[in-house]
Amino acid sequence: MIPQAVATISTAALKHNLQQVRQYAPASAVLAVIKANAYGHGLAVAAEALDNADAFAVGTFAEAVVLRESAPDKNIVILQGATDAADIRFFLQNNFQPVIHSRYQLDDLRAAGIRSLKCWLKMDTGMRRLGLAADDYSDILKKIGSIAAIQKPPVLMSHFACADEPDRAENRRQMELFASLAEQHGGETSFCNSAATISFPEMHGNWVRPGIMLYGISPLKGVTAATLNLRPAMTLKSRLIAIYNAAAGDSVGYGATWRCPDDMRIGVIGIGYGDGYPRHAPSGTPVIINDRRSSLVGRVSMDMLTVDLRQQPDAQIGDEVVLWGDGLPIEEVAEAAGTIAYELVCRLTTRVNYQRGMG
Ligand SMILES: Cc1ncc(COP(=O)(O)O)c(C=O)c1O
Repeated sequence: MIPQAVATISTAALKHNLQQVRQYAPASAVLAVIKANAYGHGLAVAAEALDNADAFAVGTFAEAVVLRESAPDKNIVILQGATDAADIRFFLQNNFQPVIHSRYQLDDLRAAGIRSLKCWLKMDTGMRRLGLAADDYSDILKKIGSIAAIQKPPVLMSHFACADEPDRAENRRQMELFASLAEQHGGETSFCNSAATISFPEMHGNWVRPGIMLYGISPLKGVTAATLNLRPAMTLKSRLIAIYNAAAGDSVGYGATWRCPDDMRIGVIGIGYGDGYPRHAPSGTPVIINDRRSSLVGRVSMDMLTVDLRQQPDAQIGDEVVLWGDGLPIEEVAEAAGTIAYELVCRLTTRVNYQRGMG
């Protein structure tokens, strides 16, 4: 039986993209962000392919525990930090490094009764999500000075709100604030996600924190991954499972939202929102069949989607269809579906069969 929806993960592309990060930030260490199952690419495969990174970052403690099996020797940074003092003792034994983003975590670290855990101190410079208030910086440093559990100095970090649009004024404001904190801090610093790693070399600091670019996806609005010399790490494919002739005026799919402008062939592809393909992808969203572009017609359903075969006279049942990846940038599909590529890769379901690519 041939599996229908297959995500092929290219370890060569992952390695190449990490190499690209090093070209962009030659003087910085790389904290490879592989949270959310390595942005849907598979944690174990990504950890192995990106073994050359200097450390890994995940979102949660639970992700760190799973990652430890594939990466026994790497330092692992937990971006959401520790949620209680009991966790923290486990951190030291396992080389898990917490991000401290809230005051309650300072109290937990004091209560943990351990010494000298490497920590990352996250300051809010304008994102207004996680991070300690920049105005409180001196007070926080004083507090940290009296907590034995925190190795001094912690790595000073912050996160951009708008790095995907480098010209936004918010970036300048965040950079100025971070630079002033870094001057007082004197220890290691880390500010740049993928977009900032590419756009703001002056902010690289000691550690860059790329995520999306490692997977070969452009972090910059309106700039293709190819322009940035990034290679897609995931190619999502399925197959044509039915073909039929429809007459001009026939409607296709649930809700009868699309009508055939001509007598035409319609192809049915074995993938739908039950596999994680976005249901809201509208008619016109591109796919590739036999190296030629086609496009969705009608609504995406749970197991299937339907495509226009007018330009595909030779298409046959069983032919492979590329939904995104090699030959079809995921950014284009995301744009058509009104979302971002981050979401598309993260939302694939267990129904999709994962394979390692040869190249
Ligand atoms: C704190 C932090 N740093 C770095 C990253 C990586 O960002 P990107 O995938 O845009 O490179 C993320 C991802 O959301 C993050 O939350």
